[in-house]
Amino acid sequence: MKKNLVTTPIYYASGSPHLGHAYTSVLGDTISRYKQVFEKEDSFFLTGMDEHGQKILEKAKAENLDVMDFIQKFNTEYKALYKKLNVNYDRFIRTTDKDHEEVVKSVWNKILESGDLYEKEYSGMYCVGCESFKTEKDLTSEGLCPDHLVKPIILTEKNWFFKLSKYQEYLTDLISTNKLKITPEYRKKELLNFMDEGLRDISFSRSSKVMSWGIPVPNDDTQTIYVWCDALVNYITACNYGNLGVDKSLNFKEIWEDGNTLHLMGKDILKFHAIYWPAMLKSLGVSAPKEILVHGLITSGGQKMSKTIGNVIDPIAVIDSYNALAVNSILEEALGSDFFRYFVLKNVSPFSDGDVTLERMKELYNADLANGLGNLVNRTLRLCEKYLGSRSDFPKVNLQKDHIEFLESMNSHDVMTACNYIFKLVNECDLYMQSNEPFKVIKVDEAKGKEMLEHLRGQLFIIAELLHPFMPRTSEVIKNLIKENKMPEKPLFPRYE
Ligand code: MSP
Repeated sequence: MKKNLVTTPIYYASGSPHLGHAYTSVLGDTISRYKQVFEKEDSFFLTGMDEHGQKILEKAKAENLDVMDFIQKFNTEYKALYKKLNVNYDRFIRTTDKDHEEVVKSVWNKILESGDLYEKEYSGMYCVGCESFKTEKDLTSEGLCPDHLVKPIILTEKNWFFKLSKYQEYLTDLISTNKLKITPEYRKKELLNFMDEGLRDISFSRSSKVMSWGIPVPNDDTQTIYVWCDALVNYITACNYGNLGVDKSLNFKEIWEDGNTLHLMGKDILKFHAIYWPAMLKSLGVSAPKEILVHGLITSGGQKMSKTIGNVIDPIAVIDSYNALAVNSILEEALGSDFFRYFVLKNVSPFSDGDVTLERMKELYNADLANGLGNLVNRTLRLCEKYLGSRSDFPKVNLQKDHIEFLESMNSHDVMTACNYIFKLVNECDLYMQSNEPFKVIKVDEAKGKEMLEHLRGQLFIIAELLHPFMPRTSEVIKNLIKENKMPEKPLFPRYE
């Protein structure tokens, strides 16, 4: 059976998850479920937390907490969010996991053996917030870091450098020939343009005086491994690289080398994944990932989500506010999570930036779910229950043949178009009901009326099947109702006023 690895970035353990983080994880879960259910392939879905780095240590200190206790808070929050969102991960990796530390050290030693690491004195403008060196070009016209609005410090230190420049040709070939496929295509062009300027070697360690919270460089305790070469390695730790992972049953060759590896991320961290990471892997003698899906960043009300502006959308708060309707819904607490999943997948294109507001959420909920899908389920099953008698079968459908457009969208990760496809079917059923009026026909021509209801029952079943990766519980509930041939005792989606 074909193996798939689907990954999210590992999120910094320094803040609560917001809607942007939730989006990447829901997208990953949706793609992973799709591969399992529709392509009947094995999919290992990996997510987790990036827990090292000075910023995290300093934030912990500012809160008077031991760093491990500080990190734990965010682990708990992310896991609670995943549970609420029905995000089914196969491993939640942490960069403080023992097996990960082992793998990072082994990776370091192998890259050193390949002759790709060297020591060099370096002096440059360093932003503590970003934990990276900056060039003039990276700064605002006032000379400030655009993300942290502070002036970088001048830092001079001896670091270990990785010979990234050596891999210029390899990387150009890898990306331009789609051996590493970057979706969407325009991101690939941006990367190739960036590489045309020439790749420079990158620093792979920091003085442990500046960065003490991390994995020490093997045999050089004056240096700490730079967070990115620690964090990126998580993807192979989880696949049991070098047989060093916790799960010895995983076969590294099967998943990583021969499988389909897909990294999901926002555009902010593409360079690390498409350039640094494959070069590191090449130095190790390991294949590059097969695919990268780069989604845009989500803004709220047209602006970047920020605590200062006060427009950060907390996914838990959104789910809870819709769950206030749960007592009146047959979906119970799955109402909030399935709605949230639906909303982000339908409202945000995986290929470009998207905007989200609470008003837009309410609009879509009432239009698409309360009036659209929920209403259709009620009306159709009320008629089927009344006129089709007792049933325990599922309608026969051939998704592979009749819904190629949906499958093609999913295969190219165009989850938004696939989601729209499902709701187009919902609309078509509504129109069918309105123009054919089976509720009237059945009174004058029973056979014809029943045929129409069978058609609607079949269409509803298709809708439920296709919905699985998007709204897993809604899909299951609708399928059960169809099987029992019963209208729901309570609506799926009561109106949100
Ligand atoms: N720790 C690094 C990643 C290391 S991966 C080896 C990191 N962490 S992060 O917490 O900042 O998460 C970044 C990711 O969160 C983005 O790439 C994206 O997937 C998601 N998002 C964060 N803000 C987002 C939006 N506003 N919109 C959409 N996604 C966003 O970078």
